[in-house]
Amino acid sequence: MKKYLILLFTVLTSLHVSAQSDGSQLWLGKQYANSCQVISQLPDDATAKIAKQELENNWRGKNVELKIDKALNLGEGYNIYARPAQQGDNIQYEATITASNPIGLLYGAYELIRLQNTDAYNTGSGKQQNFSKTIDETEKPQVGLRILNHWDNLDGSIERGYAGKSIFKWEEIKLGKNGKGGSISKSLHDRLITYARANASLGINGSVLNNVNASPKMMTAEYINKVKIIANILRPYGIRVYLSINFASPMALGYTKTADPLDKKVQQWWKKKAKEIYATIPDFGGFLVKANSEGQPGPGDYHRTHADGANMLADAVKPYGGIIMWRSFVYGANHKGEDRVKQAVSEFKGMDGKFRDNVILQSKNGPLDFQPREPYAPIFDNIKQTPQIAELQITQEYLGQSKHLTYLAPMWKEFFGFVNPDRLVGISGVANIGDDANWCGHPFSQANWYAFGRLAWNPSLTAEEIAHEWLVQTYENQDERFTKPVEMMMMTSREACVNYMMPLGLHHIFKFDHHYGPEPDGFIASYPLEWCPVYYHKADAQGVGFDRSSKGTDAVGQYPEPYRNLYDNIETCPEEYLLWFHHVPWTYKMKSGSTLWQELCMKYNMGVAMVEVYRDFWHTSAKQFMKGHEQEWQHTDSLLNVQLENAKEWRNTCLKYFQTFSKMKIYE
Ligand code: GCU
Repeated sequence: MKKYLILLFTVLTSLHVSAQSDGSQLWLGKQYANSCQVISQLPDDATAKIAKQELENNWRGKNVELKIDKALNLGEGYNIYARPAQQGDNIQYEATITASNPIGLLYGAYELIRLQNTDAYNTGSGKQQNFSKTIDETEKPQVGLRILNHWDNLDGSIERGYAGKSIFKWEEIKLGKNGKGGSISKSLHDRLITYARANASLGINGSVLNNVNASPKMMTAEYINKVKIIANILRPYGIRVYLSINFASPMALGYTKTADPLDKKVQQWWKKKAKEIYATIPDFGGFLVKANSEGQPGPGDYHRTHADGANMLADAVKPYGGIIMWRSFVYGANHKGEDRVKQAVSEFKGMDGKFRDNVILQSKNGPLDFQPREPYAPIFDNIKQTPQIAELQITQEYLGQSKHLTYLAPMWKEFFGFVNPDRLVGISGVANIGDDANWCGHPFSQANWYAFGRLAWNPSLTAEEIAHEWLVQTYENQDERFTKPVEMMMMTSREACVNYMMPLGLHHIFKFDHHYGPEPDGFIASYPLEWCPVYYHKADAQGVGFDRSSKGTDAVGQYPEPYRNLYDNIETCPEEYLLWFHHVPWTYKMKSGSTLWQELCMKYNMGVAMVEVYRDFWHTSAKQFMKGHEQEWQHTDSLLNVQLENAKEWRNTCLKYFQTFSKMKIYE
């Protein structure tokens, strides 16, 4: 008897464990038994098969038809027509997805499933149900290139990665004789399939597999052959692979004596390399290049321009349809000593029009470096003839890493308010993905991967809509007592982070190198001086802030009107950018009527107070709505305590430090 009881107990506990989500399925949710019929007369196509399979597993409507109509000219888009059909007492849906090609069908399939799983948002019913009206929706992506940039090193470490090691486990890919054939471990294969599904469900169509600070080894036959195996897995999901390259690869690998882009042997080497890559991976996307930036090699080492370097590579990949994504994140090289936020424009403006047509300039959203808040980067205005990609950072290098709940969609929407996505050919995101069970470290960091993909597909979606979609799909609960407060928490979390870290336009007062905690007085001491000024905050007895007005470094001069004047004038400069553009007296009257010093204290206190509210709500009220997700509730619960402690540390350290200049009382 006792034996049976123990057995029963073991079975029950194991059932309980397997029913518990660890976040590994992301927003893809659980699968349902096949209840719908998928009608399709599609050719034997791997992508169309996946579309069919996803619908069979996840769509709870009656039947769905998949149709290809090339004349529709939808690119990667689709049309969904879905109507309610009575079946006894039940209303069930019948749907048709039409697209110009299989990938459009796959994107349409994911959208149909998303509509089903997020329906309560539209009906306000508060419970899961089939949506209740006819849907006729045509969607096309806004930009052609929607790419994740992994900053993953070949040894498995990840630059600015906070969710474990790289998911690209090169050692688990074994090549056959002479580098041909090969096999991949089952766990890596399965992980890559979930990765591919998650990306395809958002419309992400490219993946740069390695760090922009690239190892030359990436260009060896061994790695190219391994990349092929990954590319084969991602291809049916519409994801192309790209690689970051080290500009000096031919020299570093011992083939040439120089990496000078005008050297014939160097040019030949890259041409041969491109040929080899495309023979191995016919739909290879192209190269991402960080050159003459933060110590990386580049054409500047040979007194050549960025255009010389980019064009040499562009010529090599051109015959195969490849592109070069050349980063504008350069400073401390040709324009040493100039205000760092101006250097990208100074470097690249004169080169506009000199690039081959398959070169794309890739620039970060802000002119400095992924700070919690920056004004938009004026390079997007100054470059007119060269196609551009906006680079966003999904990994929270400067926004609490994987310890803080910081939802980034509001920050990216702010950027798109200044830079119209119509001007871009692509949107890239520095990935926050690692081999942690839940992929992104903090359970809520998954929302940033999700939001990146959704916004890259359609930048006009609102941050609220996206937060809602993610939340109800991930935690499978549409109760408004849960969704409303959690969405509120997500929506305000970035502003909270700005407030407790560096409000009112302050920037880069992070601890050296790891960029986690505050160090308003220490950053520069250990940094190469030509990389940045002595203290970005410029605090002194008179005031605080970096004078970038026309009387200062004139960074405002790189902006078009109306921004130039707006930012130049201390009275009209939006207060969220005030200390970015101006050195402001401690006693300056803010719009609220308070002095700058009082306002600074108030913002820091507000940041802390907001995190306190999140922590209390989560601890007391969220758990009851997270049945089956208790492990994730627990994880977030403990991280919110860490976040609160960190927020206090930020406030206390920064206010105490600035007080040494202002000599005023700290308000609590
Ligand atoms: C930041 C980051 C680096 C990264 C660099 C880049 O400076 O801290 O780790 O290499 O950006 O974008 O190239």
